[in-house]
Amino acid sequence: MSDTYIAAIDQGTTSSRCIIFGADGRIVAVDQREHRQIFPRPGWVEHDAAEIWSVVQAVVAGALDRAGLRRDQIRALGITNQRETTVLWDRHTGVPVHNAIVWQDTRTDALCRELGGNVGQDRFRVETGLPLASYFAGPKIRWLLDHVEGLRERAERGDILFGTMESWVVWNLTGGPDGGVHVTDVTNASRTMLMNLETLDWDDRILRAMDVPRSVLAEIRSSAEVYGTAKGVLEGVPVASALGDQQAALFGQTCFEPGEAKSTYGTGSFLLINTGPRIVQSHHGLLSTVGYRLGKDAPVYALEGSIAVTGSLVQWMRDQMGLIATAAEIETLALTVEDNGGAYFVPAFSGLFAPYWRSDARGVIAGLTAYVNKGHIARAVLEATAWQTREVVDAMERDSGVELATLKVDGGMTANNLLMQTIADVLDAPVARPFVAETTALGAAYAAGLAVGYWPDLDSLRANWHRAAEWTSRMDEATRERGYRNWRKAVDRTMDWVE
Ligand code: G3P
Repeated sequence: MSDTYIAAIDQGTTSSRCIIFGADGRIVAVDQREHRQIFPRPGWVEHDAAEIWSVVQAVVAGALDRAGLRRDQIRALGITNQRETTVLWDRHTGVPVHNAIVWQDTRTDALCRELGGNVGQDRFRVETGLPLASYFAGPKIRWLLDHVEGLRERAERGDILFGTMESWVVWNLTGGPDGGVHVTDVTNASRTMLMNLETLDWDDRILRAMDVPRSVLAEIRSSAEVYGTAKGVLEGVPVASALGDQQAALFGQTCFEPGEAKSTYGTGSFLLINTGPRIVQSHHGLLSTVGYRLGKDAPVYALEGSIAVTGSLVQWMRDQMGLIATAAEIETLALTVEDNGGAYFVPAFSGLFAPYWRSDARGVIAGLTAYVNKGHIARAVLEATAWQTREVVDAMERDSGVELATLKVDGGMTANNLLMQTIADVLDAPVARPFVAETTALGAAYAAGLAVGYWPDLDSLRANWHRAAEWTSRMDEATRERGYRNWRKAVDRTMDWVE
């Protein structure tokens, strides 16, 4: 086993990566490339799925090259992905029928309200664990079927396939039009609003209500099993796992026991807590979702607090506002001042996700006076991530009745020490970062490795988790509570913006 490895593809919102891991869970090589973000109208976000597939192929070749490995040294390949982003393609040609509609896109807002009818947002909550919101894939499929000319007829003839990104990548990896397998895993399927959390199958009542034909849907499989073998650069390598990126991070952080939680700080931020074999229905704006399912084992469920905009606010500051030249500079700029100077920034660019689920909200900067400078705005940008985390942790504690002991964190933004300190301050709980912060790809690698017997069991994975850094609160209670009150006043001002 010493000279064999596991490869993981992480197909994310802004870039795709391929990371190769050794048996100790350490990184051997990484390759990463970005793809275009397409904004056709305010609130709309698209990706070119064909471009994503080329980028994925390039990073797989790149990582193999950097590691100096032959493909027969890769024991298995795992996939993890941005969830909910929806693509429909022609099964005979492999050509997408439209740009993929990204999870952040709000175009289905009115459709979701219509689908809620008299019941409202919770119409499919018991079956799917999700409120009706533009975030999820089902309404995006319906939108495409309604708006791309002739698509519904082609779909009903059985010529069209739907996938979230893992499904699209696995289908292409395993041969595309030439014998590619059309599968999805339970974690990704649980974000379509079309899968029943109990039966782990597509729900016919919802399919009828959403007007989505079964013929476009993939077979739902576990998160860790061999779906097929790769063609191309990794010819012959078993494709052995798929998990949505947040569930993969939960797995990579080895949160295998009920009550264990992690938060990943990427484009958005997603806090998941393992609830074991129990589907916990949230009463405080969280989602019930599948955490993972290993082969034929029983599924493990999770509660999730999804925050749409965190890292992407820093990118927006860089790309749209020109306030900083690199993402890392946000920390330097924030450190030029001691506090936020009274400013609060609520980045409701895609409406507000947990715990509000308001697609009609739009961003605000509140509390401005002539005193506020760039440094204060940079502070407000970082604090936005911290306060949003606090709201989700509060909801989680209310739903589960368990107080969070330590928050395990990962993702690109955890390199920002000021942000990590601020999160510990506003939570009044320790925040811990593991040695391997690439837990998303690691989770996919772990699941693939388990599926092919590269790792024997969960304990061997747990032994790989090592704490690299920990932050504890330095903020006094009065400051914390005053800040939280102000944050919530600013949140109130985002509501009812879109009529
Ligand atoms: O639900 C969306 C989430 O999966 C996206 O994650 O890391 O690509 O922003 P990320």
